Amino acid sequence: MEHQGRTAIVTGGSKGIGAASVEVFAREGANVIILDVDEAQGNDVASKAGEKVVFIKCDVSKEQEVKAAIAKGVEKFGQINYLVSNAGIQRYSTVTETSEEEWDLVMDINLKSAFLCAKHAIPHMQKIGKGVVVNVSSVQAMISQGNVCPYVTSKTAMIGLTRSIAVDYGPQVRCVAVCPGSVDTPMLRWGFEQSPDPEIPYQECVDMHLTKRIAQPIEVGEFIAYLCSDKAAFMTGQAYRIDGGLGVMIPGSKR
Ligand SMILES: NC(=O)c1ccc[n+]([C@@H]2O[C@H](COP(=O)([O-])OP(=O)(O)OC[C@H]3O[C@@H](n4cnc5c(N)ncnc54)[C@H](O)[C@@H]3O)[C@@H](O)[C@H]2O)c1
Repeated sequence: MEHQGRTAIVTGGSKGIGAASVEVFAREGANVIILDVDEAQGNDVASKAGEKVVFIKCDVSKEQEVKAAIAKGVEKFGQINYLVSNAGIQRYSTVTETSEEEWDLVMDINLKSAFLCAKHAIPHMQKIGKGVVVNVSSVQAMISQGNVCPYVTSKTAMIGLTRSIAVDYGPQVRCVAVCPGSVDTPMLRWGFEQSPDPEIPYQECVDMHLTKRIAQPIEVGEFIAYLCSDKAAFMTGQAYRIDGGLGVMIPGSKR
């Protein structure tokens, strides 16, 4: 019961990595506030996780909604110990193909949301003298596929946001980024479905990891919960890859 009596906000907690993080926090005794736009899935995750998990409908790219949702969460549980900024979307385009609207949409949901949630959650951590912010970035902040320019830009900028929060609010507040490789979630499956034969990108994803498989969301959820715990008390300001060894091997023959 590592997180007993603590309260975590998880954005994008209705599905995928966020839902898995909610499951781990709840299992380890935390109160959890899910902020997501998917009400049906969010309520489902909350009801399965037990009475200490609440869903609050919130578009995390909108400051007034974030401010009101965090205030509502504090009213319910009294304090905020952890913020997991995980909500995100994927879009496929290069610089010359990306419309201004699509660029803004990806930046708002993937990056601005993390700024807004930190802005409104950190003062509650300061009130109790302690807190942890985990920003869910991507291994694509370090190595990039083609055709995902706005996504890669947003995920790379999240590492700068992480460093700034760690510098500005330490030692009271720790801030780290998590950079997953391919994780089997609705987002990844949606990505595969953009291909005429979804099996081809799926197999490519499997093959490019040294583990020869993609991750399950719970593996990332466990890591996020660990980073929030006191066991990770010396970890701040850094981005940590959980990526099955993706990108560490130089192509060519193995002897
Ligand atoms: N799945 C992967 O392979 C992978 C790899 C690296 C990084 N990531 C990152 O992990 C995070 C979670 O990804 P996932 O694969 O679980 O995605 P997902 O699509 O399965 O879940 C994302 C959740 O975010 C919510 N969301 C989207 N826009 C929102 C908004 N404006 N306000 C509130 N909630 C919103 C969705 O409703 C959904 O519940 C994302 O930031 C993603 O970029 C995923």
